[in-house]
Amino acid sequence: MRTPLIAGNWKLHKTVPEALELVKALKNQVAEVKDVEIVVGPAFTALYPVTEAIRGSNIAVAAQNCYPENTGAYTGEVSPLMLKDAGCKYVIIGHSERRQIFKESDEFINAKIKAALGEDLHVIFCIGETLEEREAEKTWDILKTQLQNGLDGITREDLKKIVVAYEPVWAIGTGKTATGDQAQEAHAYIRGQLKEIFGQQSAEDMRILYGGSVKPDNVDGLMSRSDIDGTLVGGASLKAADFARIVKFQAG
Ligand code: PGA
Repeated sequence: MRTPLIAGNWKLHKTVPEALELVKALKNQVAEVKDVEIVVGPAFTALYPVTEAIRGSNIAVAAQNCYPENTGAYTGEVSPLMLKDAGCKYVIIGHSERRQIFKESDEFINAKIKAALGEDLHVIFCIGETLEEREAEKTWDILKTQLQNGLDGITREDLKKIVVAYEPVWAIGTGKTATGDQAQEAHAYIRGQLKEIFGQQSAEDMRILYGGSVKPDNVDGLMSRSDIDGTLVGGASLKAADFARIVKFQAG
């Protein structure tokens, strides 16, 4: 059975005091949750204080990005080694904002995934099509290419530390969630592709999260779908009560 994973991506929000206020409130509100893995993703500056604040709790911390080298002359970058040192368990890689705004390629994303695994970090690997691509009926090609290139050279053993997040770009921050049917269809396709690359068992074990305008009022429907194993939440992860409700989803 796949343990559900609910992850919050705080993006470029929250100073250190604000991050601590949010995570402390969340900690209280989800203290009794046992059967769901809970992850929060603060900005780099708040990672260490947040990992200190959640020590011993049922919440883990994700960074939102990393560079594929551990040390060197890479001004402004943060490495997997540093993230591990700051107490992170996860790192989000390949988010569509990184792909689109910062022009990150599949190859660069693949290098980051390998570097993160090299430091024993777990990876939330994001893929998803834009509205243009969906309208041009390229969704399946895009997902296939992003998966194949992003996971190039990854072993079945590595795969145990990777979670895929399907985030249709047109649903991120827009209030337009994919319907349960659209999301399930994409997740089933992704699982099928994983099966082609890694075999049946690895594909069955893999958690596939849905992301894109997940809210307290749509999470239950999404989580009741057979191939949706969790959610990656942006806007609604910035309020403790909303995120706690998402963590306590009720799949029908
Ligand atoms: P959103 O963001 O929930 O605000 O749409 C999701 C994401 O970008 O991970």
